[in-house]
Amino acid sequence: MSKRKIVLIGCGAVGSSFIYSAINQSLAQEYVLIDAFEAIAEGNAIDFADCQAGLDHPFTSIKSGNYNDCKDADIIVITAGRPQKDGETRLNMVIDNAKIMKDISLQVKKSGFKGVTIIASNPVDIMTAVYQKVTQFDYHKVLGTGTILDSLRLQHLIAEKIEVNPKSVAAYVIGEHGDSSMIPWSSVSVGNKNIYQQVAEGRIKKEELNQLRDEVAQRAYKIIKLKRATFYGIGVALALLVRNILEGQNNILVAGAYLQGEYGHRGFYIGVPTILNEKGWKKIVELPLTKEEQIAFDKSCAIVKDTLEKTFVTI
Ligand code: LAC
Repeated sequence: MSKRKIVLIGCGAVGSSFIYSAINQSLAQEYVLIDAFEAIAEGNAIDFADCQAGLDHPFTSIKSGNYNDCKDADIIVITAGRPQKDGETRLNMVIDNAKIMKDISLQVKKSGFKGVTIIASNPVDIMTAVYQKVTQFDYHKVLGTGTILDSLRLQHLIAEKIEVNPKSVAAYVIGEHGDSSMIPWSSVSVGNKNIYQQVAEGRIKKEELNQLRDEVAQRAYKIIKLKRATFYGIGVALALLVRNILEGQNNILVAGAYLQGEYGHRGFYIGVPTILNEKGWKKIVELPLTKEEQIAFDKSCAIVKDTLEKTFVTI
């Protein structure tokens, strides 16, 4: 297997959780950590290096670095930006984080990087679009985490309710990674049995579906109130995306992809099911939405599109 190199930009709790997940899954042989606060990158690099001898398949190198290290990287993961405060929505961070993302984008562009970029910085749908606009990289080689974490949360909560393994739950959350995200319930199934069949057979109540939607949408707020930030869930979600891209298996996962007419929308990134391979996101998968689901998805798209138009004016 050729040497795989991952560069992380932003070594806070989210970025470090991703790297910890990545080294434990042996996703790459070489890791470079970049942070505006160099000491954080250096301290994390030394701390992670201490893991090497304890791993079944150790990486060959991990170091703190700079944008010159991006040129020959396979993947760049960006988590940089200020964290969400208690009671704040992700969209509230857009002005501050758009400025940070523009600066990062210019530096990555200058480095000659030709690989795939995955962005988790919030509000992620907007940050992904800012990065693609500034770098002018191929849309398919830039993706956001979108609503993958929301989807993992939903799988877990449905599995808990119906007492099955989460891997047996096929459930996506799509739209904005934020308050307007929506669940296309008509496409949700447990062991190939549609969720409405599960309701009919008494395994879950219809009103519990709405409760689950609210629980997923409120999950980050709940965690932030308790421990000031979320990072393990998004760390694993980032590792899941990176693994599927590096392995190039054409798996279908929810990610932040650029709509070009799919679902009746175009011109912005948002959480949708996509086919992932070594070139990034290959194709968006269009689910058959009911009329109500399409209305909810349209609303979410309108929020992302409107926020993006206002943000582009500021950068
Ligand atoms: C969350 C952050 C990643 O949903 O937005 O936990």
